[in-house]
This record gives sequence, structure tokens and C-alpha cells, in this order.
Amino acid sequence: MDDRRFRLLLDWFGLSRDGYYRVRKGVKKRIGRHMLECGCRNVSTYLMRLTQDRTLREQCRTLLNVSISRFFRDRALWQLLQEEILPELINAGVDPFRVWSAGCARGEEIYSFKMVWDLLGHGRDSMPQLQAWATDMNQECIDAARRGVYSASSLKEVPDELKQRYFERLPKKSLLAIRESVKGGISWRCLDLVADEPPAQDFHMVFLRNNILTYCGEVLLDAALPKIWEASAQGGYLIIGSKEKWPPEGGRFIPMRGIPAFL
Ligand SMILES: C[S@@+](CC[C@H](N)C(=O)[O-])C[C@H]1O[C@@H](n2cnc3c(N)ncnc32)[C@H](O)[C@@H]1O
Repeated sequence: MDDRRFRLLLDWFGLSRDGYYRVRKGVKKRIGRHMLECGCRNVSTYLMRLTQDRTLREQCRTLLNVSISRFFRDRALWQLLQEEILPELINAGVDPFRVWSAGCARGEEIYSFKMVWDLLGHGRDSMPQLQAWATDMNQECIDAARRGVYSASSLKEVPDELKQRYFERLPKKSLLAIRESVKGGISWRCLDLVADEPPAQDFHMVFLRNNILTYCGEVLLDAALPKIWEASAQGGYLIIGSKEKWPPEGGRFIPMRGIPAFL
């Protein structure tokens, strides 16, 4: 499939041409295979089949998802959370503390958060109750997140000390399993940020990194973003990816150093 036809497909789903530019090679390969499986030789026949057949449409949408993630992605952010932002919120008495990893891929982000939270609990008499949600539109991602088994490459930003504390090496040497102490207490849900409602309300922290802001076009963002900020608590934090921009409509968000936006 050439770029022009790939762009037609992105437009059809309301996805962002710019967002997909860097990852288009791998995604086009997956879509090309799906077209062959459906017996479609060109994109117009494929689009017609997608219009008529909901299952094929859902399969194609899932294939368009990019689920690359890693633990402690953007190390500086996690440092800021651990050293400044979370201690401040804990000291201010926010209890229970509600966090949502929206578009969580295979759980790397919410498990990173749980590790930081656990570290902060050491040396404190008490911690707020943590209520954690992690959602993704791809059920396979949620299933993999619940299993919590990762290849070494997902852990390349994890300091050795944390690897030893929070992961267990599996007999197959290149795989590591997250320990039960980090795994528990997360509400997992298959949820489309555009079509569905947030899993709860009054979040003190929402991670919205490297998913809809990168890959969705304006119309889909207009449908998704108001629901997300309505679900955020006053004074809470909305964390976006280090290379992402906040759309101008987000006027009530004030960008801060290290974390691109907070409410
Ligand atoms: C590149 S991963 C990012 C994971 C993590 N947030 C991070 O920054 O490392 C993007 C994830 O967002 C999910 N996603 C994309 N669009 C979504 C939508 N509309 N609703 C829910 N999840 C979505 C994909 O399935 C994928 O697993």
C-alpha cells in the first residue's frame, strides 16, 4: 500500500496523518496483510468491505493501534513525579488518590506509577488510599497487562535496583514478570476514549500520553477530550507525552516544566 492510499484509510477513520507518519511502515504492513486476508486488492474495495462489515472494521481499527510503550518512559517525568509532585499531593492530604492511565498499552505506565507510589510509601507512617484505573481500546493489550510479563527491552529505562525489587526473572531468561505487590489494586477496562465514558470521575492524575493526542484527528479529539477533562479533579494533573502538544481549546490547563500540562 502506498502512502496516498494509507492516508485515505486514516482519513476514513478520522485518524491523524501527521501522527502516523513516523510509524506508517509497520502499520501499513499489518493493514496490507489484513486486506489480503479479506480478499481485497485495492483500498476502495477494502473501504467498502469495512463499511459493510463491523467485525472487519473493528479488526482494522485494532491493527491501526500502535501499542509501543516501556516502563518509565520519559525518565525525567517520573523523577519529577517522585521527587516533587506526588509528595506535594500526599502532604496536602489528597485521600483517596485517583489515577488513570488512559490508553495504557500493556500496563507499563500504570505499573511504573505503582512502583513510584510504593517507593514513596517507604519511610512514611501512612499513605493515602490509591485507586488506580488503566484502560485501553485494545482487549489484547489489557489481557497482556493483566499477565504482566515483559521482554527485557521494555525495561531498559528501569534502574537495576527497581528491576530486582519489582520484577521476577522467568525461566525463559529474556522475560520478566511484574511482582504481585505491584500488580494488585488496578481496575483494568477495555475502553475507547472517543466512544466510551471515563471509568470514574475526579481523577487527581490522568496519564494521556502517546495515544489520542498523537494518533487521532480533530473530530475524534473534540469528542474525547472534554470527557477527559470533565473527569479530572480540580487541581489535578493531566500528563501528556513529551512530544505532544496540547490543543488550544485546553485553555484552563497551565503548562509546567517537565510535565506538559496540568489542570
Ligand atoms: C503508544 S501506546 C502508549 C502507551 C502509554 N500511554 C505510553 O505513553 O507509553 C498507545 C495506546 O493507546 C491505545 N489507544 C489509541 N487510541 C485509543 C482510544 N481511542 N481509546 C483507547 N485507547 C486508545 C492503543 O491501543 C495503544 O495501546
